[in-house]
Amino acid sequence: MAVPAFEFQQVSKCYAKNEPDAVHEFSFAAKPGSITTLLGPSGCGKTTTLRLLAGLERPDSGTIRLGGTTTAGRHTWIPPERRGIGMVFQDYALFPHLTVEQNIAFGLPKRERQRGAAEGLALVGLEGLGKRAPSELSGGQQQRTALARALVRNPIVILFDEPFSNLDTDLRTRMRQDVVTILRKTHSTAVFVTHDQKEALAISDEIVVLRDGIIQQIGTPREIYQFPDTAFVATFVGQSNILPGIMGYRSLSVETEIGTIPCRHTHGAQPGEAVTVSIRPESLEVDPNGPIRGSLVQTTYSGESIEAVLRVQGPDHSRDLLVHIHPEQHVTAGQSLSFSVLPHFTAVIRGFEPKQQQPQ
Ligand SMILES: Nc1ncnc2c1ncn2[C@@H]1O[C@H](COP(=O)(O)OP(=O)(O)OP(=O)(O)O)[C@@H](O)[C@H]1O
Ligand SMILES: [Mg+2]
Repeated sequence: MAVPAFEFQQVSKCYAKNEPDAVHEFSFAAKPGSITTLLGPSGCGKTTTLRLLAGLERPDSGTIRLGGTTTAGRHTWIPPERRGIGMVFQDYALFPHLTVEQNIAFGLPKRERQRGAAEGLALVGLEGLGKRAPSELSGGQQQRTALARALVRNPIVILFDEPFSNLDTDLRTRMRQDVVTILRKTHSTAVFVTHDQKEALAISDEIVVLRDGIIQQIGTPREIYQFPDTAFVATFVGQSNILPGIMGYRSLSVETEIGTIPCRHTHGAQPGEAVTVSIRPESLEVDPNGPIRGSLVQTTYSGESIEAVLRVQGPDHSRDLLVHIHPEQHVTAGQSLSFSVLPHFTAVIRGFEPKQQQPQ
């Protein structure tokens, strides 16, 4: 790839002795103009990764580059103010006593302030509101002001730490579409932090899934959702049924206790290999002639679908599967139903599961 906008090479950071690394041997890179999302549960190292990139934390080992320049390495340290990074905080961090345009131009050299403010207002569609105080803006407009302040400095990358997390669902969806549209228009490189998997799937070119300071998988939203590398990724990003099985000998399929599961993607697993299979609920389709038969033990109507639990009797014990049923169907708990498996959202997971770190 061309020179990445930023790059982590084997970067580790530990805050305290006897604690595992908050960030353990991270290596990943982002293309200029791309949106990367760091996704993972609380405490997995998302904010630490942003702080390392911004220069607010020093790595214990490894190298960080920004636009081809090493900013943190064994013998190198460039302080945060000289890195060319923009940050948009969850609370926007606007100065209440300054106007919108003064906020946008804050810190620019005096002769650039007027042009910078006008340009910033235009980039985010706030023309005409420059003379207002931040308190006279809606939440969305305040966020755009914060984004304009970052953009007018032509940053190499803009960092967003959970920027939408204190908003209700509707506003959240609208604001993130807004922000992403502006980032695309300005060809900005951005990193978002979120623990909301739907948000990550919606906005990202690449998602980096983290757990306990370790990268679990890096991929496009489609790769992460359709072909998860680990059971953790499969269940953290969406819902999934995780079953042990053995790779089939003839075709792309896995033999499991509930029968033969067709798979489009096998991660190169060999016939006869012991594997795990991830079956998304939407892979299971009601089919009177389908091979998987069970009884519904729970049904939840969500409007767009019926989310149900199907209890299937295996040779030794029963297994509960999450299934999605078309909302037009009338089903009730206790009813027997048959399903067939579509291969599109099933994936083979090989034995590999990135190891848990041991405290040092
Ligand atoms: N300044 C600090 N001193 C000591 N430990 C810290 C510090 N900051 C973070 N940690 C620890 O490092 C780990 C990673 O924290 P981090 O803030 O990066 O998580 P996160 O993924 O952003 O979580 P959240 O979703 O809750 O914001 C956690 O175990 C946390 O307790
Ligand atoms: Mg955080």
